[in-house]
Amino acid sequence: MKVMVVGGGGREHAIIKKIKENKSVSEIFALPGNGGIAADATCVNIGAKDIDAIVAFAVENSIDFAVVAPDDPLVLGCVDALNAKGIKTFGPNKAAAIIEGSKVFSKNLMKKYNIPTAQYEVFTDMDAALNYLETAPIPTVVKADGLALGKGVIIAETREDAKDAVKSIMGDKVFGESGSSIVIEEFLTGPEVSVLSFTDGETLIPMVSSMDHKRALDNDMGLNTGGMGTVAPNPYYTEEIAKECMETIFIPTVEAMNKEGRSFSGCLYFGLMLTPNGPKVIEYNCRFGDPETQVVLPLLESDLLDIMLHISDKTLKDADVRFSSGSACCVVMASKGYPGKYETGFEITMPLDKNIYVAGAKLDNGKLLTGGGRVLGVTETAPTLKEAIEKAYKTVKEVSFENAYCRSDIGARALKANN
Ligand code: AMP
Ligand code: GLY
Repeated sequence: MKVMVVGGGGREHAIIKKIKENKSVSEIFALPGNGGIAADATCVNIGAKDIDAIVAFAVENSIDFAVVAPDDPLVLGCVDALNAKGIKTFGPNKAAAIIEGSKVFSKNLMKKYNIPTAQYEVFTDMDAALNYLETAPIPTVVKADGLALGKGVIIAETREDAKDAVKSIMGDKVFGESGSSIVIEEFLTGPEVSVLSFTDGETLIPMVSSMDHKRALDNDMGLNTGGMGTVAPNPYYTEEIAKECMETIFIPTVEAMNKEGRSFSGCLYFGLMLTPNGPKVIEYNCRFGDPETQVVLPLLESDLLDIMLHISDKTLKDADVRFSSGSACCVVMASKGYPGKYETGFEITMPLDKNIYVAGAKLDNGKLLTGGGRVLGVTETAPTLKEAIEKAYKTVKEVSFENAYCRSDIGARALKANN
């Protein structure tokens, strides 16, 4: 079987390594992949947003199965375009990907179907938004409607900060057309949990829960990043809470999308906050999370490609989906300076027999060089979270490149919650 994976980060590397375990796979192509992924797949220099070129490549190379991993191509309709050429694909179509592509859509969906989420107002007019902020409860959260590279959410501690956020999103259009509409919502508190799920629009099977670490520095200080590390499972997500989420959030969301004529097939990601008033949805993503995937898939004991094939055939209920009862920890190693300015081009040395997922690297004359802010993620699994964390930091010591930076406390909060 010839498989194609669209995307080129650590998440895609984790997906590719897992798909590779299936014996029927003869070749895996990554579009565009990266210098580290090249060890596990044939990288093809086609960008993840170049839908026409992706489809043309799939047709020319008789791809049997495609996986579209990042948000951009999903929201742009990559799955629809591949399906139109008869190529079996894992991922939601454009109509369903809107659950991530538009925060106004997702908030209105939750309100209509009584799915717990923060109270909110939608604005398309800047003056109306500024006027509302005169009396809105503070802190408040301002969100650009569309995709904004994960940066479209501003938590404002003061009325002035909230107004500045509205002006920069709606007035200066710092996120482009993503900011033509905004959501201003209630500030919620509580531990955050990421739950990725498999769904074919009929059956939904949650994967093991996880915890992201979004801030750049230890103790959750510093700027927001794409994610500096993850652990799974998330200790705050008890069996009781999982049951409640299944009943009040997961199943209602799948049913709501069906009722809207936007049946969701693929990986539906629930970003949850466990508030004093129960679990609430902070965001939906229409795809695997990054770096959540780097801890969730190593704990998957069954065959990922087989599950994906079942989803595209709408027979997920017959699939074998099993997770290990152990724990996983992923420590992201970044270029010093990230998410601000940083230098690249430094040679990476790392053990080849470990679960290392490369996010930002390029090959140069056979040498692997740093090529991005987040360079790679080191994942280890173990029977307990404590051991997984210790093993991951031990392996981190075996990786080196100039200007390497990682947080030293990935999993520390989870460990405290466990005890
Ligand atoms: P998002 O891009 O929607 O995941 O938002 C980024 C981060 O902002 C989330 O992971 C939360 O930590 C925080 N956040 C978003 N919405 C809220 C909210 N309503 N209340 C508190 N924190 C929020
Ligand atoms: N780690 C958060 C995300 O993938 O959006």
